[in-house]
Amino acid sequence: MSNIVYLLFLITLFLSSMTTPSTSATDSFIFGGCSQPKYTPGSAYETAVNSLLTSLVNSAAFTNYNNFTVPGTPASDTVYGLFQCRGDLDNDQCSRCVARAVSQVGTLCYASCGGALQLEGCFVKYDNATFLGVEDKTVVTKKCGPSVGLTSDALTRRDAVLAYLQTPDGTYKTFRSSGSGDFQGVAQCTGDLSPTECQDCVSDAIQRLRTDCGPTSWGEIYLAKCYARYSEGGSHSRGSNDDSSHNDDEIEKTLAILIGLIAGVALIIVFLSFLSKVCEKHKGGK
Ligand SMILES: *[C@@H]1O[C@H](CO)[C@@H](O)[C@H](O)[C@H]1NC(C)=O
Ligand SMILES: *[C@@H]1O[C@H](CO)[C@@H](O)[C@H](O)[C@H]1NC(C)=O
Repeated sequence: MSNIVYLLFLITLFLSSMTTPSTSATDSFIFGGCSQPKYTPGSAYETAVNSLLTSLVNSAAFTNYNNFTVPGTPASDTVYGLFQCRGDLDNDQCSRCVARAVSQVGTLCYASCGGALQLEGCFVKYDNATFLGVEDKTVVTKKCGPSVGLTSDALTRRDAVLAYLQTPDGTYKTFRSSGSGDFQGVAQCTGDLSPTECQDCVSDAIQRLRTDCGPTSWGEIYLAKCYARYSEGGSHSRGSNDDSSHNDDEIEKTLAILIGLIAGVALIIVFLSFLSKVCEKHKGGK
């Protein structure tokens, strides 16, 4: 009897291991980049970078934005860094996102003096040139949906979303989200910008979405210090990158379910054959 319980436990384990949700949307990779100058591995600068990155991860458990400076000698060895989580994430989601972003930027930008990485839910950046509090509207990445005719109604809703993101009513916000019908949009500044700079950055991003993307069902633009994006229907009608990773997830899930089932059936067969052997022994013994 205890064998059966053990088997059931194993099967449950298989089944539960395949139904755990795959990586959440906040982890989706948007962009990453590293500075040209390199440091010598094992140098004091490397220690400073690691200490800064650790501070980012620790801090993300308590707040959505923070900046750090780790002084070095000479002054060119001082490292500056910040993280910014999307304004609608809670501390738990934020710290998980930043931990992931830091680990990815550490790999991507190994031995680079500076690096930056944007996941869907958070942004991290560090460098030995100070960029904290400096507005920067460089276009980092931009994607637009296909320009298949939006109805004029849909275009009106899209424009309403963009208009709200550009000038939200009430108080100043680094994070803005908006919806109209099936259109949704978000905009986010890094917390080191002043309200005026943030407003200027977001306005610029939205203007570019309007002019560069035109009447499309989705669009996203990431400037160095802010971003704006919108989409029609569902949370994901984004680029082909995204769709394929989504498909991969589905395939992985299906594969996991199949493997789980096969393993379960195999275990049952093994158990049954074991049972029949035991029975035969008993028969033979009598
Ligand atoms: C950053 O470090 C690199 C490599 O040591 C150096 O060439 C560069 O001048 C530094 N940048 C600043 C702003 O200090
Ligand atoms: C950086 O962090 C310090 C301490 O948390 C804060 O006083 C300062 O305003 C921040 N600077 C920027 C540019 O955000």
